[in-house]
Amino acid sequence: MTSRLPDGYFRSPTVARVQDHLDGGTDNYTSDRDFTHDLFAAAPWLPASVRVNRAHGPRVLNCLTREYNIDQVIDLGCGLPHDDNRYLPDEVRRMVYVDSDPGVEAHARMALAERHGTASLRADLEDMPALLAAGPIARLDHGRPIGVLLHDVLPWISDETAHTALAALRSWLPPGSVLSVTHATTDTAPKAMASLTRLYAKAGIGFRPRSGQQIRDLLRSWTPLEADGPVTTASWRHPSRLHPHWDPSHAYAILASPGDRTS
Ligand SMILES: C[S@@+](CC[C@H](N)C(=O)[O-])C[C@H]1O[C@@H](n2cnc3c(N)ncnc32)[C@H](O)[C@@H]1O
Repeated sequence: MTSRLPDGYFRSPTVARVQDHLDGGTDNYTSDRDFTHDLFAAAPWLPASVRVNRAHGPRVLNCLTREYNIDQVIDLGCGLPHDDNRYLPDEVRRMVYVDSDPGVEAHARMALAERHGTASLRADLEDMPALLAAGPIARLDHGRPIGVLLHDVLPWISDETAHTALAALRSWLPPGSVLSVTHATTDTAPKAMASLTRLYAKAGIGFRPRSGQQIRDLLRSWTPLEADGPVTTASWRHPSRLHPHWDPSHAYAILASPGDRTS
């Protein structure tokens, strides 16, 4: 795919730029800021939730490198550059940033994929054969485990695409690979999530926060790597689970392995 921005790209909000504005970034436009204003009115915890999700990235990268000896990672739906997705432990030798948003690719090429061993790619989870065959991904060492970050991306794609993409990924990943997912949930703030879903729909963006059970169903072929099941993102590896009242995640964090691919 080329990185030419489509006509009208700046006139309507995009998920990546809205996230950027919610986290105090500057890579956003009037359309994103106006829209974010409405989102914030419906869910005042949204900036804190975005912050928790973004801060999860470095924690997972440290875990993948140090506990699972993974040194090649794909950040699927990486979003616009920010301090947390710029973080790369020294142990990571190859990193591929992937996003379907052409504006993200342009920024990622300049501000994320600037280090030796990193690359950025515009590709869509709707077309996994093309995504997995693209140069930077095809050039990863398929004889060794690969880490995949899928942080706050599944809520933006349909059940069908999510199932297809996860199945393609699972059969493609080498043994020992690890998938990290974060996913917005309807379990903790159902009314606000319903309002956000309606607002996004008006802007032409499908937002699908899912229940814990629906998220488990999406990942049912994968082997969970942590015994205590999905925990909220802020509670992940926290010494004690946060009381829901103090937990701004409104999302779950899961680590899973592709497991036995004969099943
Ligand atoms: C909410 S942002 C999350 C960004 C980053 N992963 C994080 O956790 O901060 C979701 C990202 O997924 C990307 N995305 C949405 N649908 C996608 C698809 N079908 N294929 C690839 N990327 C997609 C969006 O462009 C956006 O940058």
